[in-house]
Amino acid sequence: MPHPDVLMIGPYPAWDMEAMEGAFRVHRYWEAADKQAYVAERAASIRAIATRGELGASGALIAALPQLEIISCYGVGTDAIDLAAARARGIKVTNTPDVLTEDVADIAIGLLLSVARQIPQGDRYARDGKWKTANMVLTQRFFGKRIGIVGMGRIGAAIARRAEAFNMTISYFARSEHKELPYRYCSSIVELAGASDFLVAAVAGGAATRGLIGADAFKALGPDGCFVNVARGTVVDEAALLDALESRTIRAAGLDVFLNEPNIDPRFLALDNVVLQPHHGSGTIETRKAMGQLVRDNLAAHFAGKPLLSEVR
Ligand code: 8YV
Repeated sequence: MPHPDVLMIGPYPAWDMEAMEGAFRVHRYWEAADKQAYVAERAASIRAIATRGELGASGALIAALPQLEIISCYGVGTDAIDLAAARARGIKVTNTPDVLTEDVADIAIGLLLSVARQIPQGDRYARDGKWKTANMVLTQRFFGKRIGIVGMGRIGAAIARRAEAFNMTISYFARSEHKELPYRYCSSIVELAGASDFLVAAVAGGAATRGLIGADAFKALGPDGCFVNVARGTVVDEAALLDALESRTIRAAGLDVFLNEPNIDPRFLALDNVVLQPHHGSGTIETRKAMGQLVRDNLAAHFAGKPLLSEVR
């Protein structure tokens, strides 16, 4: 039985590439000079797409693949996949939830602590020898403060569990109240921001959340407030965020995601009150190995006619 033909949109780590090449006939989309011609030459045989959260699969690409049966995403966010186009043709979509939840929640806490206690600034302060002449400025306490979480899905809930360990007052915004949770529900982002010292975005990206967090939220968060984003760059009005940081409308921000990644707005680079991460929330060896395995397991299950492990409904 020949290996099924799989169009890979972007590379996975070497260990995954070896496993993918061993199980499937892999076509390396990202290496093609003329991508449209590359797809057209292979369209008759390609049965699956293997993509990544930030790369997705456009409606045009899906339309160019008449034999496409499944799209397997290395990542939990499927906002870059045209789900409507996939559903219209009965094309299955899978992602990699759960295996990355805890790591992304960890990086959110890491960014919160980095911003509150100015850990990157302290590193530079020691390296630059400034400590020899004066102690560093005092920073902001994190434990026991008020945290507002935008989105109470797997990652938001994991962040909340961590915040409990820091004895924080926990509030959240979601499409509806989760009455089983012991946290305060806020029915608007502005209400949540006004009740928070630290505001964290952990909501799914996509049209429904585009620009969800904007100038009014940052004004409500206030000059002692800090913002962290581990969701998607699209969930924030990025111009409003930059204005709020430059004008000190908010104290600081910790950001793992941006618009136009990896070519982030150079205004961020000029700021001393922002901690930047290169969309690395799930970027640990253990988690990325688990993600790659789940991508392959979903593809193998599909081609074996077995139930998918993590189908996006
Ligand atoms: C992915 C992400 O790991 O899971 C997601 O949706 O944004 C990331 O955590 C990344 O896109 C993989 O390249």
